[in-house]
This record gives sequence, structure tokens and C-alpha cells, in this order.
Amino acid sequence: MTAVRLVILGRQGSGKGTQASRLVVAYDTVHISTGDMLRAAVGAETELGLQARAVMDAGELVGDDLINGIVAERLAQDDVAEHGFLLDGYPRTPDQASALEGFLAEAGTPMDAAVNLDVPVDEVTARMVARGRADDTAEAIRRRLDLYESETAPLLAWFAERGLLEVVDGLGAEDDVFTRLTTAIDRRLSVGDAS
Ligand code: AP5
Ligand code: MG
Repeated sequence: MTAVRLVILGRQGSGKGTQASRLVVAYDTVHISTGDMLRAAVGAETELGLQARAVMDAGELVGDDLINGIVAERLAQDDVAEHGFLLDGYPRTPDQASALEGFLAEAGTPMDAAVNLDVPVDEVTARMVARGRADDTAEAIRRRLDLYESETAPLLAWFAERGLLEVVDGLGAEDDVFTRLTTAIDRRLSVGDAS
């Protein structure tokens, strides 16, 4: 199988991380979750982690320059060159989307698809409350969802303009959502092969 280059989009709590863990096995690719990378830095108490902790707990976004730097470094590693990537939680601002476009253009490796996991606000809120991560307080959840609408939702049009967007219903059993995702991704990959 050739290396895939995918982005998974969706509201906080839509199931990106849950599905990404399965998709990277199915497509033999590398899961790059900026949230997981930041939580690892917080846990290890690195300088980045110390900077990021308060921002994350409040549900605010970490600065674009910092995040773009972390992702650029990760994308430059050998496993990504060999296996491609599935980005989860990035890009989530217009500036991050432009930066990603720049990294991929420089590497000469175009993206295959951006898949949006569509789940309504009420359902994602219930899922996050039930999960109970450090940043799943009522206030931080509200702030993250507001930022999603203002900063991240516009990226759906951005990916659609580039012919990369697939929308998948994220409601229902995890297995059913997974099948919908692989169907959408496989369709994209076969179109890519034919052109
Ligand atoms: P991040 O870790 O990306 O968190 P998030 O965006 O809030 O998204 P989540 O991880 O909460 O949701 P998910 O879609 O992965 O859902 P999950 O699979 O867990 O970011 C955290 C913070 O880091 C940000 O707030 C920001 O501060 C910072 N950050 C990260 N990236 C950044 C960036 N690019 N720029 C700036 N700052 C950044 O599922 C949720 C729950 O639902 C789970 O309990 C799961 O078991 C359950 N579930 C999953 N699927 C189903 C289903 N089908 N039915 C029922 N329940 C389900
Ligand atoms: Mg996640």
C-alpha cells in the first residue's frame, strides 16, 4: 500500500481520536494528534508542557506558531515519509491550514482527503462530560466548541474548495462510523489512483 495523507476533522468530542486509532492500523499510517502531543508534554513537564497546560485547561487554543513548529518537526520524520500520516486535531485555524499546505507543497506530497466527522453539539457535549478528561469541565467544553465554530468550522469550506472534503456521519456505533470512514477514504484513494 502506498503512503496515505489524511486529515480527520470534527468538533471536540466527535470521536476523532477514537476512530484515528483504528484508521492508522487499517491504513498502516502514522497518527499525529496535536492534543496527544501536547498532553504528553504536559505530563513530562517540558517547557512546552508548562506553557500549554493553562491554555488547554481553559479550552483556549495554543498559538499557531508553536503548533505549526511541532507539526512541521513531526512531519519531517522518517516514519511519515514512509507511511504517510493521519492528522487529528490539526489544522484547526486558517493559519494552520495554510502552514500545512506549505509543508506539503515543499515536500511534494499532496494530501489525499480531509474527512469531517459530523456530530451535533448536544451529542459531543454529552460524550465529553462522560469522558471527564482534565479539560472536560463545563466551561472549557463551551469555550472549545465556540472556538470550533469561529476558527475551525471555516476550514470545511477551505478543504471543499480544494476538492478534498468528505463528510461522514459520526453518530451511531463506533464500528458503523469506522465503516463509513473507510468507505469514504477508499473512494478517495481509488479516485487518486485512477487520475
Ligand atoms: P484535542 O486533544 O484535539 O481535543 P479536542 O479538540 O477537544 O477533541 P477531543 O480529543 O476532545 O475529541 P475527539 O474528537 O478526539 O473525540 P474522542 O475520540 O476523544 O485538543 C486539546 C487541547 O489542546 C485544545 O483545546 C487546545 O488547547 C490544544 N490543541 C490541540 N491541537 C491544537 C491545535 N492544532 N492548535 C491549537 N491548540 C491545539 O471521543 C470523545 C468521547 O466520545 C470519548 O469518551 C469516546 O469514547 C466517545 N465516543 C467516540 N466515538 C463514539 C461513538 N460513536 N458513540 C458514542 N461515544 C463515542
Ligand atoms: Mg482527541
